[in-house]
Amino acid sequence: GALDLAIRGGTVVTASDVFRADVGVREGRIVALAEDLRADDEIDASGLLVMPGGVEAHCHIAQESASGVMTADDYFTGSVSAAFGGNSCIVPFAAQHRGMGVIETLDLYDGRAAPNSVLDYGYHLIVADPTEKVLAEELPAAFARGVTSFKVFVTYELMKIEDRQFLDILTVAKTHGAVTMVHAENNAMIGWMSERLLAAGHAAPRYHAPSHPELAEVEAIHRAICLARLVDTPLVIVHVSTEGGAKLVREARAEGARIFGETCPQYFFLTRDDLDRPGMEGAKFMCSPPVRDVATQEILWRHLQTGTFTLWSSDHAPYRFDASGKLAKGPDASFKQIANGMPGIALRLPLLFSEGVNKGRITLPQFAALSATNAAKLYGLTDKGSIRIGGDADIALWDAGLKRTVTAADQHDAMDYTPFEGMALTGWPVTLLSRGRRIVEGGALVAERGSGRYVARARADMTGIPGTRPPEMDPARNFGAEIMP
Ligand code: URP
Ligand code: ZN
Ligand code: ZN
Ligand code: ZN
Repeated sequence: GALDLAIRGGTVVTASDVFRADVGVREGRIVALAEDLRADDEIDASGLLVMPGGVEAHCHIAQESASGVMTADDYFTGSVSAAFGGNSCIVPFAAQHRGMGVIETLDLYDGRAAPNSVLDYGYHLIVADPTEKVLAEELPAAFARGVTSFKVFVTYELMKIEDRQFLDILTVAKTHGAVTMVHAENNAMIGWMSERLLAAGHAAPRYHAPSHPELAEVEAIHRAICLARLVDTPLVIVHVSTEGGAKLVREARAEGARIFGETCPQYFFLTRDDLDRPGMEGAKFMCSPPVRDVATQEILWRHLQTGTFTLWSSDHAPYRFDASGKLAKGPDASFKQIANGMPGIALRLPLLFSEGVNKGRITLPQFAALSATNAAKLYGLTDKGSIRIGGDADIALWDAGLKRTVTAADQHDAMDYTPFEGMALTGWPVTLLSRGRRIVEGGALVAERGSGRYVARARADMTGIPGTRPPEMDPARNFGAEIMP
C-alpha cells in the first residue's frame, strides 16, 4: 500500500550499520528501507543522518525528591526538552515514598504524564518501602502493567533500603523477568564524612565532593553486584562515576554476570573544580555521585569505547538555581541541604555526538547503541531503539556538521541554567519523529501536549546471557527451586 511518509536521501545509522536508504513510514511504523521511496508527505534528509530516536532511560520528571522538592520540569517541558535533544522516548521514574503503595504511585504518575507528554513514555518504579504486600502483590501488578524495571537506593535516609530488602526485591524481579537498578553509594561513609565536614565548618558546595568519596561508590557497587550474583539476576548500576566502579562492572561482566553499567555526560565534561565556583554557584554542579576529575574522565571514555557501559543517560534532575529548587533552604544552605542533580536531557546526545563521534572517540553505530538501541533492549521497549522494518518510526535527523554554542535558553526545559553553558558543540538533531508524528521540525515544536503514549514494556531482553551462579547456590544440586528461583 501507499506510504504515509517517505524520508528521502539520508544516511541511516543503526547499532550495526551505516547505509544509504530512504525510510518509508505507514501508520507510525517503518515499513520500507529502500532506494527512491515516494509518498505524498516527504521529508528531505539529504546531507543528514537518519538515527534511531534517542531513548532517555534515566531522567527525573515531575518527581519529588525524598525531602519534597518538586522538579521544575513536568511531563510537558521534560518531554519537549528531550525531543529537542534528539529523543523520541523517555523512561523517567515513578517514585514510591515510604507509606505509599506502588499502584497508587503509578496512578499518580499516569496523571502527571498522560495529559502532558509529547513523547512516548514509561516509568522505572523506585521502591523505597518494600513491605510484604509490595513484594507479594504490588510489584507483580506493576510488572503486569508494563513497569518492568525497579530502582532502589542504598543511600538517602528517606529512600534507602537494607541489604535484606534488596535481596527480596531482586528475587521478585527475577521471578517476573524485571531488571533492577541501583543507586550505589555507601550511606554510612557519606553520613560520616558529611558530619565531620560540617562540624569543621565546611558547608560550601565544594564539600559535596569529599562528602561522597569515590570509595563510597566503589564499596556500594561491589556489594550490589555481590547481592545480584547471589540471587543470579540482572542488575543495572546507574550513574557510574569512578574508575573503581567501572572496573567492577567490567570484571563482573567478564565473569558472565548480568551486570549492566550506566554512565552520564556530567562525569565526562565537568569536574569538582566546578563545585568550587564563587558563592553558591557550585550548587549548580551538585549531583550524586559527584562529578570527579579530568583523569577519571579519560578513563571513563576508555570504558565507554570498550563496552563496559551499556547505557549513556542524562540523569536529568532539574532543580532550578532559585528558592524553588537548589536554594530552597536559603542562600547560605550547607551542601547537605541542596537538592542533588542537574539538568541535561537535551544535551545527552549532542555532547556524545560532538565529543564522541565527531572527535573520533566512538563510531556512529556505537552512538546509535548508546543513544537508543541498548536502552530499548535492556528495558523491554520492543518496538523502539532502532531503524528496522516493523519498528516504531521513532527517528531523529541529525546534521553532523551543524555548530552551535550551548545556552540555557535553548534547552526548552523549565530550568534557569545549564551546567554545560558555553560549550561549542558540532552535530545537532534538527528533526524529531515519534511513531511517525513530527515532534520537532524547523527548530520548532510541532507536537500537541499529551500526544505521547504510555508504553507498556516487555520483559527485559538481557541479550541472551545465561548468568552464572556460585555452585553452592545451585538449587538443582542443593536445595530446590522453592527456596530460590
Ligand atoms: O544527584 C542526582 N543524581 N539526583 C537525582 C537522583 C538520583 O540519585 O538519581
Ligand atoms: Zn541515583
Ligand atoms: Zn569486596
Ligand atoms: Zn537519577
